[in-house]
Amino acid sequence: MAPTILCLASYFKGGAFLEECKRLGCHTILITSQDLEHEAWPREAIDEFFVMPFANLFKQPDITNAVSFLARNRKIDRIIALDDFDVETVADLREHLRMPGMGGSTARYFRDKLAMRVQARDEGIPVPEFVHVLNYDDVRDYMHRVPGPWVLKPRSEASSMGIRKVNSAEELWPILDELGDRQSFYVLEKFVPGDVFHVDSVVWNKKVLFTVCSKYGLPPMAVYQGGGVFITGNLPYHAPEEQALQALNREVIAAMGMVRGVTHAEFIRAEADGTFHFLEIAARVGGANIDLMLEHATGINLWREWARLELAHLNKQEYELPPTHQEYAGLVVSLARQPWPDTSAYNDPELVWRLQKEHHVGFIAASPDHDRVQQLIGEYAGRIAQDFMASAPPKEGERPV
Ligand SMILES: Nc1ncnc2c1ncn2[C@@H]1O[C@H](COP(=O)(O)OP(=O)(O)O)[C@@H](O)[C@H]1O
Ligand SMILES: [Mg+2]
Repeated sequence: MAPTILCLASYFKGGAFLEECKRLGCHTILITSQDLEHEAWPREAIDEFFVMPFANLFKQPDITNAVSFLARNRKIDRIIALDDFDVETVADLREHLRMPGMGGSTARYFRDKLAMRVQARDEGIPVPEFVHVLNYDDVRDYMHRVPGPWVLKPRSEASSMGIRKVNSAEELWPILDELGDRQSFYVLEKFVPGDVFHVDSVVWNKKVLFTVCSKYGLPPMAVYQGGGVFITGNLPYHAPEEQALQALNREVIAAMGMVRGVTHAEFIRAEADGTFHFLEIAARVGGANIDLMLEHATGINLWREWARLELAHLNKQEYELPPTHQEYAGLVVSLARQPWPDTSAYNDPELVWRLQKEHHVGFIAASPDHDRVQQLIGEYAGRIAQDFMASAPPKEGERPV
């Protein structure tokens, strides 16, 4: 009988995962949010398509009841979280249905920034100094000991949502008053100025089989909160910083107990002394079209590989990474003031992809030559700012990427 894969997606993404499952002969089920019903899901690859009100996707016992109801007359073999926000829900569902895959306690290391901080620190991995916003004596001691500025960060949000820079103790206390009972869902940590990197991997039986290290143009917080062009590009292979990130990424993946799947980890290189600090890790494919950029650089599509390795595990087979190439790609994305910007003047032969999304503009450039990619994306970022960029910073709820 065809294996049945159920995917949960509270965000429109992961079509390539569903397509690969279908291609490999699975029966596929997608549960998504009502407001995403008319997105361009690959309907031909989805055997059963269900929607729920957005809030119910996270609500217990509603989601457990919904999935258990489906399981009355379907044998569900695997449940997969396509978006970061679905990781905990899916882990709980696996526990409830006694199904293989990441369970609740491991999922915490990939969703809860406090849990991952504590675990990384305990394993000797450098992290920005932090304190849980819980005990006031501890918070006071921390601010005494660790000079500001700091960032006050929700433990389980994404896309820099709700992150605030705090410059002094006097600034912190009124914010905590305002947060009230929500304050214990925050962590306070040292603001470490420096470049931000992301490392994207494929993990099979605890081994990191594939990794690409990339560097963001501006730190994501600056882009999300201040506006500006989102830029990333992969680093020269085998360069010292790439090697250092590879090693650190392996340590983080081992420390968090990742067994199988894909990861997206982020690190800051402190301007002060050049050391890499672990920022966060997620058990999912990197968002903001990073998947496409990595595919242009290496030939590896992380969604597809994730589907392949889940299926290999289900069928008790060995997973093998397909051949890859070591080339370079860079991604530039920005909000645009025009609804559908005309990008016909951007036509270098290295330009391999254009973003089609209302009020957005974005490109991927790819080449065997790292410097050429850097030159092009740098140039595009400047031209985009001139040609398309909205002058005001992003509004509340507006996603620059
Ligand atoms: N300790 C820190 N020091 C400096 N910048 C930080 C720090 N923590 C987060 N940031 C900035 O905020 C962004 C988002 O933080 P992160 O922990 O990755 O949360 P998320 O991406 O889930 O919102 C980072 O990419 C970085 O630009
Ligand atoms: Mg991040």
